[in-house]
Amino acid sequence: MRKQIAAANWKMNLSYQQAAGLLDELLAQQIELAPNQEVIFAVPFPYLAMAKEKVAGKTNYFVAAQNCSDKKSGAYTGETSVEQLQSIGIGHIVIGHSERREYYNESNAVLATKVDLCLAAGVTPIFCCGEPLPIREAETQNAFVQQQLEESLFHLTVEQVSKVVIAYEPIWAIGTGKTASTQQAQDMQQHLRKVLADKFGADVADGISILYGGSVKAANAVEIFASPDVDGGLVGGASLQAAEFTAIIQALK
Ligand code: G3P
Repeated sequence: MRKQIAAANWKMNLSYQQAAGLLDELLAQQIELAPNQEVIFAVPFPYLAMAKEKVAGKTNYFVAAQNCSDKKSGAYTGETSVEQLQSIGIGHIVIGHSERREYYNESNAVLATKVDLCLAAGVTPIFCCGEPLPIREAETQNAFVQQQLEESLFHLTVEQVSKVVIAYEPIWAIGTGKTASTQQAQDMQQHLRKVLADKFGADVADGISILYGGSVKAANAVEIFASPDVDGGLVGGASLQAAEFTAIIQALK
C-alpha cells in the first residue's frame, strides 16, 4: 500500500520557542504509525536542525524544508540549495507551493528544475499543484492541474517519478476554511493518478502518494483521507494546533 502521509506546513509562523513547544507536545503523544504511514513537519529554515533533533529516533517522522533554490550552488545571496539541506539531513522539500508560485513567480519550468535538483540529491520533492478559483469556476481545473504535472514532472523517468510525493491544493481552499468537498478532492486526485498512469504506467501511478491540502481540519480529515485516491494531507493552519494535528495524523488510513 502506498504511503499515507500527514504533512504539516507551518509556513512563516511560530517563534523558535513556540515551534519547539509544539513539536514537544505533538511528539509526547507517541502516536504509533503503521509501516506505510508517515508524519512530515515542513518547518521554517531556522528550525530545521532543532526539528530534526526532536524527531530523531522516531520511526516514520520526518522534517522537510518549505522551499529550495533552483540553483545548485554559488553566488545567490539568501538562497538555500538542495545540497545544503541534504547535508544537514533534510530528506523532503516542499516544491511549488501556490504561495511561492504566486508571490515569487515560480513557473512550472523553474519547479521542474527544483524537482530535478531534489531527486539528484536523493531528496523527496513534495510537489504542490492546484487551481485558482476562476479556473474552478470555469470548470477547467483538470486541464490546468494536469499541465502543472506535465510541465514539471513528465520529463522524469519512471524511477524518478516514483520518488515524488504530490500534493493537490486547490488555491481557493487554502487558508479559507472552504475545504474542497470530498468528491472534488477525489475526482481531481483520481484524474491526476490516471494522467500519471497514462504517462508512466498504472503500477507506478498506483505507488505515488497524492496528498490533499486546503483547509484540512480534525473535523474533516477522516472523510477526506478515506477517499481511495487521497493519501493523506498537507496541512497549514490546523498543523499549528497540537490537538488538531494529532487528530489529523490519527485520521490516516
Ligand atoms: O500547504 C498546506 C496549506 O497550503 C494549506 O493551508 O491552512 O488551508 O490548511 P490550510
